[in-house]
Amino acid sequence: MTQFLLDSGDPDEYRAIATLAKQHQEVLFGATTNPTLIAKKLLGPLRQSVSEASTKVTQEKAFELQKQIVLEIINIVPGPVSAEVYADEKTTANEMISQAREITKWHQRVVIKLPTTIEAFKARTVLRREKIPINNTLVFSQQQVLAINLHEQLIQKEGPIENEWQPFISPFVGRLDDINIDGMAVVEWAMRQKRTHNFTPLILLASVRRAEHIKRGLDFEVDLITAPAKVYQEWFTLTNEQKQVVDAKSYASNFKPIDYWEPPRCTV
Ligand code: G3P
Repeated sequence: MTQFLLDSGDPDEYRAIATLAKQHQEVLFGATTNPTLIAKKLLGPLRQSVSEASTKVTQEKAFELQKQIVLEIINIVPGPVSAEVYADEKTTANEMISQAREITKWHQRVVIKLPTTIEAFKARTVLRREKIPINNTLVFSQQQVLAINLHEQLIQKEGPIENEWQPFISPFVGRLDDINIDGMAVVEWAMRQKRTHNFTPLILLASVRRAEHIKRGLDFEVDLITAPAKVYQEWFTLTNEQKQVVDAKSYASNFKPIDYWEPPRCTV
C-alpha cells in the first residue's frame, strides 16, 4: 500500500497534515526534509546571526537546528524521516560520509538523503556497507533509477542489510514537468522495473506539485509519495468519488513523453 510522507521543514505543518489525514481516514506516515525547506523555517531566528557570524559558525548552527527540527518531526510521524546532507558540486564523498554518519546518530528512523552524483555514489558505497538507510534524491532519469538499484544489488551481494527501511529512490516529477517532460513517466517506468526485475529499493514519488501526481502514483501503486502541505490539503479533502474522477492525464497531454527504455540485462 502506498504510504504518504510530507515534504516540509516545519513541524507545525506536520502536525496540521497528520491531523487532516486522520480526519479523512488516512495516515501521514513519514517525512522528507531538505536544507532549503528547513532554512525557510529557520530564517527568522537565524537572520541576525547569519549577518554577524562566519559562514562556518552559521553552517554548524544550521546543522544543529536541523537536528532539532528533525527530532521534533520524528515525534509527529510514525515512519521514516529523510534528512539531507549538505552537498554542492564541490562536496566530496568524504564530506558527505561524515555528515551522514552524524545525522544517522540522531534517531533510528532517520534516512539519509544523498544526491545522485558520482561523489554521492562513492559515499553510498561506504554508508550502505555501514547499513545506513539512504534516500537517493534528485533523480531525473530511468538510467539513474537503474544505476541506484544495481548499486544496491552489488552492496547486498556482499551480505544482507537488515534495516527497518529499504533504501529509497526519489524521482523528481515536478522538476521534469517544469521542463515539459512527463515526470510521472519515470516513476511508472521504475514501478514496472520493480515488478519484473530484482529490484529492492522503494520508489518515492517526489517533487509533487499537484493532486494529479498523487492520483497517478496511487494508480501505479508507488511505494511512497512525498508531497507539500498544500497538495495534501487538496487531496485529503476530496471524497472517494472525487478522487476516482480526478483527470490525471490532461495536465501532461502537451508534455514530451519519455522513450521507454529497456535496460541491458545486467548480472550482479
Ligand atoms: O522532495 C523533493 C522536493 O523537496 C523538491 O520539490 O517542488 O522543489 O521540486 P520541488
